[in-house]
Amino acid sequence: MPKIRIEGGHPLSGIIPISGAKNSVVALIPAAILCDETVTISNVPEITDVDDLENILIHLNAQIKRTKERVEINASNIINKEITETLSKKLRASYYFMGAMLGKFNKVDMYFPGGCSIGARPINLHLKGFELLGAKITEEGSHFIIEAEKLKGNKIYLDFPSVGATINIMLAAVKAKGKTVIENAAAEPEIVNVATFLNNMGAKIKGAGTNTITISGVRYLHSCFHEVIPDRIEAGTYLIMGALIGENLKIDNIIPNHLEALIAKLKETGVEMEIGLDNIVIKETNKYKATDIKTLVYPGFPTDLQQIMATFLTQCHGKSIIEETIYENRFQSLLELQKMGANVKIRKDNRKATINGKTKLHGTDVNSTDLRGGASLLVAGLIASGTTTIDNISYILRGYDNIVEKLQKVGAKIEII
Ligand code: EPZ
Repeated sequence: MPKIRIEGGHPLSGIIPISGAKNSVVALIPAAILCDETVTISNVPEITDVDDLENILIHLNAQIKRTKERVEINASNIINKEITETLSKKLRASYYFMGAMLGKFNKVDMYFPGGCSIGARPINLHLKGFELLGAKITEEGSHFIIEAEKLKGNKIYLDFPSVGATINIMLAAVKAKGKTVIENAAAEPEIVNVATFLNNMGAKIKGAGTNTITISGVRYLHSCFHEVIPDRIEAGTYLIMGALIGENLKIDNIIPNHLEALIAKLKETGVEMEIGLDNIVIKETNKYKATDIKTLVYPGFPTDLQQIMATFLTQCHGKSIIEETIYENRFQSLLELQKMGANVKIRKDNRKATINGKTKLHGTDVNSTDLRGGASLLVAGLIASGTTTIDNISYILRGYDNIVEKLQKVGAKIEII
């Protein structure tokens, strides 16, 4: 199995261009099947989640043309057949084919999705939404057949503002009869990017980005050209690297607004940044003081940056407390950081962790436990003394476009072995 090897202590200088957002493109690609003409999506990141979605489209007989950063999809001849367990379990976002196939054919046959094991991650809110649109669900183990005579708009209150459920209900509702209102909807920027894509194809969606989304069903969706927004989590990851070991490091092609919570927290610790229209520059590192983090839904502090921020907090003077409110099992990577010398304590209920800093990290062999956990170890390896070797890197490559190449270009001593 390939591994990533890093020699720590080499400053990062230059420009890091941010790619398209994983958590948007993985919804845009399934959503494209709702259209019976060719759609073009640009700024597509080179990540394995996109490869896995492409394989599902090919399995369904869609025409797909992929070039650097761009994908063209024509689903006018796709076949409504079972999406196999293997294909379904490759990634979490395969669940977006539930809403899209239901919206297109009033029927979908697939399995419970895959994804990082950072919690139970049920899909009850997705299923509840489909039922309220008039669908009947047959569930056998992890196998789901969801079908409806005709989907009909309805009012759907989400018990939790789930990103996946909000998008999946939107996909099922765009061609349903009448009006759907999603209340307590999630408001992440990726949801706005997906709603804009659907509206560009002729859908009638209002309120994306707020907690109330209204969808008036339409009969037909036409072709369009759409761009994926920059990846705020990828940008946040490099920004934290810059705060730790940057010298004139520019994080480029970003929407700073999408990083407000992170920027505020980094400033609290003493990080100095120059924030431009679509970039942030870190001129030099500093001495940082501890702070507390509580993960929340957008625009709160993103859970997807929690583990990477934990690495940063090991380099801050004093005691920091992290409270993880979204997932019940997202501290596993801290145990790997401990192997590198981090001083961390995880509370029994696995919802809070304490980090005492500043501690000197040293390179060793560590395992990626999940996508962001892997990234948090990569950040640690950049600042640790000696050499760090990271295993299970397929987790990292699922969500970071050419991360090794991008870091080599700004001076990191890093390679895949
Ligand atoms: C999306 O996952 C992202 N994944 C996650 O990013 C991200 O952590 C998460 O949103 C929250 O921001 C993708 O977009 C592919 P949720 P999703 O539904 O849709 C519970 C990364 O690192 N819940 O908002 O699965 C759930 O268990 C990944 O890029 C239910 O109980 O997140 C979790 O505790 C990791 N029932 C919470 O809600 C449901 O039906 C948030 O889940 C749905 C969710």
